[in-house]
Amino acid sequence: MPQPLKRIAVTGGAGQIAYSLLFRLANGDLLGATQPIGLHLLEIPEAMPILQSVAMELEDCAFPLLKEIIIGSNPDEVFKEIDYAFLVGAKPRGPAMERKDLLNENGKIFVEQGRALNKSANPHVIVLVVGNPCNTNCLIALSHAPRIPPQNFHAMMRLDQNRAVSLLAKKANVNSHEVTRVVIWGNHSSTQVPDFTHVHIKNKPLINFPISQHWLENDFMSGVQERGSKIIAARGKSSAASAAHAAIDAMKAIINPTPPGEWYSSGVISNHNPYGIQENLVFSFPCRTKEDKTYEIVKDLPWHEWIRSKIMASESELIEERTFVKDKIGAHLHIS
Ligand SMILES: NC(=O)c1ccc[n+]([C@@H]2O[C@H](COP(=O)([O-])OP(=O)(O)OC[C@H]3O[C@@H](n4cnc5c(N)ncnc54)[C@H](O)[C@@H]3O)[C@@H](O)[C@H]2O)c1
Repeated sequence: MPQPLKRIAVTGGAGQIAYSLLFRLANGDLLGATQPIGLHLLEIPEAMPILQSVAMELEDCAFPLLKEIIIGSNPDEVFKEIDYAFLVGAKPRGPAMERKDLLNENGKIFVEQGRALNKSANPHVIVLVVGNPCNTNCLIALSHAPRIPPQNFHAMMRLDQNRAVSLLAKKANVNSHEVTRVVIWGNHSSTQVPDFTHVHIKNKPLINFPISQHWLENDFMSGVQERGSKIIAARGKSSAASAAHAAIDAMKAIINPTPPGEWYSSGVISNHNPYGIQENLVFSFPCRTKEDKTYEIVKDLPWHEWIRSKIMASESELIEERTFVKDKIGAHLHIS
C-alpha cells in the first residue's frame, strides 16, 4: 500500500535558504526514502517568476518521492492541508535597518501566515519559523492560530546548536556526533546563551577534556554568537546552506523521539516552563521529543550565576520585542 502524501509548506520559496532546503526535502532527507511528499511553496507576487523557475528545477530532478508541487502567493491556498511548515520567507535586514524595523515589517507577515495556518493547515501541523526575528515571529504566528496547539510551533535555534557542536568537536578533536547536551538558551540573536556547562563528549562530562574555562567562556561563546555576522561580513549574505541543513535537523529532532540522555534546543512557548522564564514568550530551551511525538522541556539543569544573568538579558530582549510588536502592529499576543 502506498503511504498517504505528506504536504510540506515552505515560505520564501524563491529565496536562498529555500534553494538549498527544497531539493533536500524532495529527496526525502526529512521524512525518509519511502514517504511521498508534496511541496507547497509561498512567495510574494513579485518573486513568482523566480519561484516558477525553482519549481521547474524541482521537476527536472525527477525526484521519485515528489508527487505534488503547488506554488502561489495566497497563504490560505498554499497552506491547504499541510502537515509541516517551514516559515522561511521574511524581509532581510537592510543596511540601515534597526532590529525594530525588521520586527515591524516581518511581524505583519506572521500575523497573516498564522491566520492562514489556522484556516487551512491540518490541525496537527508542525511549524518551524526560520525567518527573523524568528522567536517573536513564531510567537506572533502561534498567537494567530488558536486551532493549532501552541506546542506545534518552534523557532529555529538549530543553526546555533550545530555551530556550538562543531566548535566543541574541533576543539576536543572528536567527531561532531560525540558532542551532546549543548544548550542554547533564549533568543536567536546576539543575546543567545550557548551553554557548555552540561556538555558531554563521548558520553563523559566536558571537564574530562583539556579545554580551558577561558576558551569556553570567551572564544566558544562569542564564536557561536558572532558566527552569523562573520558569515554576512565574508559573503555579503546570511548563511543559507547551513541554515537549510539546520532546518532539516531541527524538524527531524522535533518529530522523532530523542535518543536517551540527549536533547535539542528549540524556541518554544514558555508557558509552564520549569525555569521561571516569563510566560507568553518563544524562548529556546533544551527539549526532548517523547515516544508519543510531543516534546517536554528538560528540567532541573542548574544555571551558573554568570550564565543566569545572560539568560535574563535574553529574556528581557524577548519581552521588549513582544511589547514593541503589541504596540506597533497591534498584534494580540496571548495564549492561555
Ligand atoms: N533562524 C536562523 O537560524 C536563521 C538562519 C539564517 C537565516 N535566517 C532568516 O531566514 C530568512 C530567510 O533568509 P534567506 O537568506 O532565504 O533570505 P532571502 O532574502 O534570500 O529569501 C527570503 C524570501 O522570502 C520572500 N518573502 C518575503 N516576504 C514574504 C511573504 N510575506 N511570504 C512569502 N515569502 C516572502 C522573499 O521574496 C524572498 O524570496 C531571513 O529572515 C533570515 O534572517 C534565520
